[in-house]
Amino acid sequence: MRTPIAAGNWKMNFGPRQAQQFAGIVRDPLNAVTGAEVVLFPPFIAIPTVYNVLYGTHIGLGAQNLSDQLGGAYTGEVAASMIAELCRWVIVGHSERRHYYGETDATVNTKTRVALDADLTPIVCVGEHLADREANLTERVITTQVRGSLGGLPAEQIGRVVVAYEPVWAIGTGRAATRQDAEDVIALIRALVSELYGQPVADALRILYGGSVTAANVGEFMASPQIDGALVGGASLKPEFVDIAQIIASAKASS
Ligand code: PGA
Repeated sequence: MRTPIAAGNWKMNFGPRQAQQFAGIVRDPLNAVTGAEVVLFPPFIAIPTVYNVLYGTHIGLGAQNLSDQLGGAYTGEVAASMIAELCRWVIVGHSERRHYYGETDATVNTKTRVALDADLTPIVCVGEHLADREANLTERVITTQVRGSLGGLPAEQIGRVVVAYEPVWAIGTGRAATRQDAEDVIALIRALVSELYGQPVADALRILYGGSVTAANVGEFMASPQIDGALVGGASLKPEFVDIAQIIASAKASS
């Protein structure tokens, strides 16, 4: 049984003040959700504030990125060990990091290792661009990303990894993938992980869908036994995220 995940990626929204206010609003209703892991990903500077608001709840906390270095003279970077003082989770290789900040599969692989070594749970993101999909290259792109981002990780740590499939054309566009599109790629990801680490690891791996998830469409995705939760951007900045978490938990409880 794979425990479902409702992950809210706030991206570059909410400084400490707004984060405190919003986390205060969603704290109790999110804490009341049972049967799913609920995790919030504030910007770095708001993490300590949100940590305090969530203290004593079972709501998870994570960072949106981490350094590939362990510490020292890397101006502007944040090390995994620092994140791990307040968080248990971290997003790795989000398409915005790949696209705007030049992160490659090799970077994502290193960051995933560094996160695992610090006892963080990485949510490793993969997803194709619209041009890839239109050129029928989705399978090839996802295969390259999964092998490059997840290959060669220590076998004893691989069980902690979570993958998010986020087609780039569906992120922030209001144009979510269809359930079938998501299911097809997620099945491919599971097969690739099985090639890398064996079927039991692939069977236990949690794979999320992300890209324009809302309270209105999340139930449709969660009806798929392949999809273990959602990585939510825009809708995680609104109280709607509580509904999304509840729908994820109850869809999986009844399946
Ligand atoms: P979105 O973002 O829900 O706003 O499309 C998802 C994500 O990028 O994680």
